[in-house]
Amino acid sequence: MKIGIAGLGTVGGGVAKALGAHGELLGLRASTPLEVVAVCDRDADKRAQFDAPQKFDDIKALAASNADLIVELIGGENGAAPMLVEAALNAGKHVVTANKAMMARHGARLAALAEQKGRALRFEAAVAGGIPIVKSLRESLMVYGISAVRGILNGTCNYILTQMEATGRSFEDVLKDAQALGYAEADPELDVGGGDTAHKLALLTSLAFGVKPDLDSVAVQGIRNITPEDISFAREFGYRIKLLGIAKKTQAGIDQRVQPAMVKAGTALADVEGVLNGVVVNANEAGPFFFEGRGAGECPTANAVIADIVDIARGNTGSVFGLPADNLLALSAAPTGSA
Ligand code: HSE
Repeated sequence: MKIGIAGLGTVGGGVAKALGAHGELLGLRASTPLEVVAVCDRDADKRAQFDAPQKFDDIKALAASNADLIVELIGGENGAAPMLVEAALNAGKHVVTANKAMMARHGARLAALAEQKGRALRFEAAVAGGIPIVKSLRESLMVYGISAVRGILNGTCNYILTQMEATGRSFEDVLKDAQALGYAEADPELDVGGGDTAHKLALLTSLAFGVKPDLDSVAVQGIRNITPEDISFAREFGYRIKLLGIAKKTQAGIDQRVQPAMVKAGTALADVEGVLNGVVVNANEAGPFFFEGRGAGECPTANAVIADIVDIARGNTGSVFGLPADNLLALSAAPTGSA
């Protein structure tokens, strides 16, 4: 499997390092050697740090290269990332991406293209970093259907809320520490305003309920207005405040919302601390499931990217959102406030 990597930041570096360090075993798991044949970044200094036979500064050249699979780590809802993914699929290549914004906005269209071309489009790293929640919803927890998914999907916000609770410091004060951790988005408003959680939730909703990702129907409220007083008030009554992404089936349709919520202390989600992510899936007769782990960072995210690559190399190239793209329904949203 010849791999091309676009976007040579922390995750790209982690993918290259892990393929170098564990390549032999990963090749055995994949039943084929995994080889990085090309890298692509506009920044020459970044390209210089990578050891690859071909180095490109242009996504078109990467899409036309001899790679069988492109790893898209450029990021961004529009522009170079979706252009590369489309070009790669049209050129008959598989794609692995960590791009939640692109998949939340263009996922239905890109899934249809991938399936039409008979190629895989995988995005495990786009939601909750190292937690294998995408594969779990797509392939494992699908027999009895799902009634609800609730998750702490943004490590930056969870760190801020945890620190505000532990120290009594203000939101603005703790935000600076959170940004220094390197988990925050390039535009931190995406974290604290709830947009990043909304991207991830739209993808989980699609996987859980067999609908097209529908970012516009997510009601979004962030954590900017949460005060230390709100947090200590909640605590007095036995609750913790968490930024949750919630998707559930209601009689009126699917309700998707991102909001700061009071979560009963001592429950699984309430105990998710710091930069960790956590997801509860209610899988009807199969019961509830809880996932917890690192939602960002070099190694957890590289793990998710490489797990997708190995899966594709093994021949698991099935539908992008768990159902053929033609069978995904348009989401029928519950009217706001009906949940
Ligand atoms: N900004 C995101 C977070 C990164 O804080 O969780 C991972 O998607």
